[in-house]
Amino acid sequence: MNGLNKFMAKRIVVIGIQWGDEGKGKIVDWLTTCTNAVVRFQGGHNAGHTIIVNGKKVVLHLLPSGILHDTVVNYIGNGVVLSLAALNNEIQTLYDNKILKIDSDLSNKLFISNACSLLLPSHEMLDAALEEITSDNHIVIGTTRRGIGPAYSDKIARIALRIDDLFSDKKIFVEKCFAIFNYHKCILENYCGKSNNINFKKMMNDILYSADNIYPFVADVPVKLYKHYKNNEKIIFEGAQGTFLDVDHGTYPFVTSSNTVASAAATGSGFGPMNIDYVLGISKIYSTRVGLGPFPTELCNDVGKQIAQQGNEFGSTTMRPRRCGWLDIVLLRRAIMINSVTALAITKLDVLDRLEKVKICCNYRLRKDIIEIMPSNTNDIYECKPIYEEFSGWMQSTSKITNFDDLPYAAKKFIARIEELLNIPIVLITTGPDRDNIIVIKHPLTDN
Ligand code: GDP
Ligand code: IMO
Ligand code: MG
Repeated sequence: MNGLNKFMAKRIVVIGIQWGDEGKGKIVDWLTTCTNAVVRFQGGHNAGHTIIVNGKKVVLHLLPSGILHDTVVNYIGNGVVLSLAALNNEIQTLYDNKILKIDSDLSNKLFISNACSLLLPSHEMLDAALEEITSDNHIVIGTTRRGIGPAYSDKIARIALRIDDLFSDKKIFVEKCFAIFNYHKCILENYCGKSNNINFKKMMNDILYSADNIYPFVADVPVKLYKHYKNNEKIIFEGAQGTFLDVDHGTYPFVTSSNTVASAAATGSGFGPMNIDYVLGISKIYSTRVGLGPFPTELCNDVGKQIAQQGNEFGSTTMRPRRCGWLDIVLLRRAIMINSVTALAITKLDVLDRLEKVKICCNYRLRKDIIEIMPSNTNDIYECKPIYEEFSGWMQSTSKITNFDDLPYAAKKFIARIEELLNIPIVLITTGPDRDNIIVIKHPLTDN
């Protein structure tokens, strides 16, 4: 393995370096056994992070993936757009399914930034209504319809309600709430053509009711994170979505509405950027994408279907089928550059076990040029044609293997070629959805 000698990280950002669903939840949950805090710093309940513990599946949307560990403190940073209803439902579901013990007190395990913008029910209505407009000049993104775009729009327009507003003067909160609901109503009726039978008064009362439940969790998150730092404790910043869904660096406009790249961990939590010392980039050993937008290595054939079936590629939040394709080194090179990725975790090796041939896209042909790094212009990406290297498949089960030496030779060769092409160490490889199905080459938080 190249690089990383004698270095043990303390503050690590874990991010997706494709289009989301790379297996971030599983990796964060696994890393959490030796950490003090886990922080979500962007996105909202559009995320779906799956963790499987002893065969029991848990999908987390807003709660950080450290929530399943008793000794870990979890934070929702200011960069998250927070639906109170979604958060309350998620917590309740964990209690109902006995994932959280009924007597476990979350009030010293979960903290929510007072500076989070609220994602309101009317944001979800707007998201759905805007996706349904089919006029020529309106772009359909294939969103999760969770209200993410409208919530971030209001934040940037400086008209959003924040957690702080919930606990300040109630009269002022009610006035602000009506103002924003009227604005949403105006768009829904006049731009989206939706008739208005929406009960805004009920909506506002629901918000005030849910507010009581989250009061114990509200905190000045940067101050708390700084304390962990001063105590020399370990912190994981858990990214949601993936690099090419980033609103600036992704395949715009087919992106989410937040910054998903590593640097967002600092702005989205209030943690000093110089105090982060490791970026773990997560990539599947193939590629997937949910929703619309360019995807140069997409396989619209039986191989794509086979990968989808083996990998159980259905969205964790919306259950939509994920589009599947070969691993794209050209895209990963761009992600590694933008995120200053320290090392890689490669997930879902076992999904390729039954393929006779496996491929990696090493370069693109863009018109007359051969290019090594994915271009930033979405129209150009649509025109890129992948150039592949082909390998023999291993045609043996790698499922649940935990020792690199036990992998079939062809699988080792494939992994070595990925590492060589990207010139960056692969430190973790996953071989199944369960917490323990992982090959550790170099533990980011404990090995040096
Ligand atoms: P996230 O959004 O990045 O946390 O990823 P998701 O949870 O949305 O999707 C990843 C899916 O792959 C989940 O269903 C995981 O249980 C599953 N998964 C993770 N690692 C592996 C693996 O190594 N092998 C297999 N077969 N499934 C995996
Ligand atoms: P995790 O954290 C995969 C996609 C949607 C759509 C686009 C915009 O589980 O990896 P949005 O609702 O955010 O406005 O949708 O982004 N998308 C995701 N795809 N994984 C996710 O999260 C996603 N969150 C959003 O499918 O294409
Ligand atoms: Mg997901």
